[in-house]
Amino acid sequence: MSDDYMWFEGIPFPSAGCSHEIFREVRDKFVFKNDDVLLVSYPKSGTNWLIEILSLIHSKGDPKEIQSVPIWNRSPWIDTEEGYKSLCNKEGPRLMTSHLPIHLMSKSIFSAKTKVIYLMRNPRDILVSGYYFWKETNLTKKPKSLEQYFEWFIQGNVVYGSWFDHIRDWMTMKGRENFLILNYEEMKRDTRSGVEKICQFLGKKLEPEEVNLVLKYSSFQAMKKNKMSNYSLLHGRYLNSNTLIVRKGICEDWKNHFTVAQAEAFDKIFQEKMANLPQELFLWD
Ligand code: A3P
Repeated sequence: MSDDYMWFEGIPFPSAGCSHEIFREVRDKFVFKNDDVLLVSYPKSGTNWLIEILSLIHSKGDPKEIQSVPIWNRSPWIDTEEGYKSLCNKEGPRLMTSHLPIHLMSKSIFSAKTKVIYLMRNPRDILVSGYYFWKETNLTKKPKSLEQYFEWFIQGNVVYGSWFDHIRDWMTMKGRENFLILNYEEMKRDTRSGVEKICQFLGKKLEPEEVNLVLKYSSFQAMKKNKMSNYSLLHGRYLNSNTLIVRKGICEDWKNHFTVAQAEAFDKIFQEKMANLPQELFLWD
């Protein structure tokens, strides 16, 4: 483990947990099954919140599992050594998570009926969230300032590479019936409707009281307190002791951080890079 990157095919990844061997296995050997559910996102999109919601949908709102099993064991990361190994030994139906760009994902994702949920978030908020998180870990190169991280982010020199490439490439799956796109912003605005949408996609029928429990136990405050979900179990190992995965949990925090010049520069890059995608995908504006 070091304060640097693990490079794979020209893309930087966290220096702990990931390895060339596992990335090659995932891309060349891993086989998705029809009853798998794969959650995909670019880091800091609200991934762990969605895992919490999916765990609770699975248990119909019963918090026993989320309060006793670490979040990374409930939905293992296919792109980490530990997660990959546990998934290979797991009976179905498997819930799993990944931040991998699509070209590094097993090709079987295109032929299996695996349900894929892609979670998006305003990249400006992802940038701010990433800055506060990565500088408190020993998993990657640490930014010295938000200004520096801003430059790295827009150039794609951050873990898992360019946000713009990640979105553009995964959106080639848009329109498939086993591919659901969610926005962090729409989940924040109306979490109940978001949960119902996920249930419908997964073919799960929850009673209204069960949905209430999902909302209660996946709320920002509940997750912040849940040591199985807030990453405090990683304190001293990968994370500094005052850092949690649950930070502010709001939309548009970037407005408290970007200068006018940064906001304009970001808009310009966004327009250039995302021009060919349907703009209604981006629900934050
Ligand atoms: P902020 O840093 O902007 O607060 P990920 O899980 O992909 O790493 O994303 C982390 C982001 O999701 C953080 O954003 C975190 O606060 C937010 N988040 C975590 N749990 C949440 C919850 N229950 N409700 C809303 N946002 C949550």
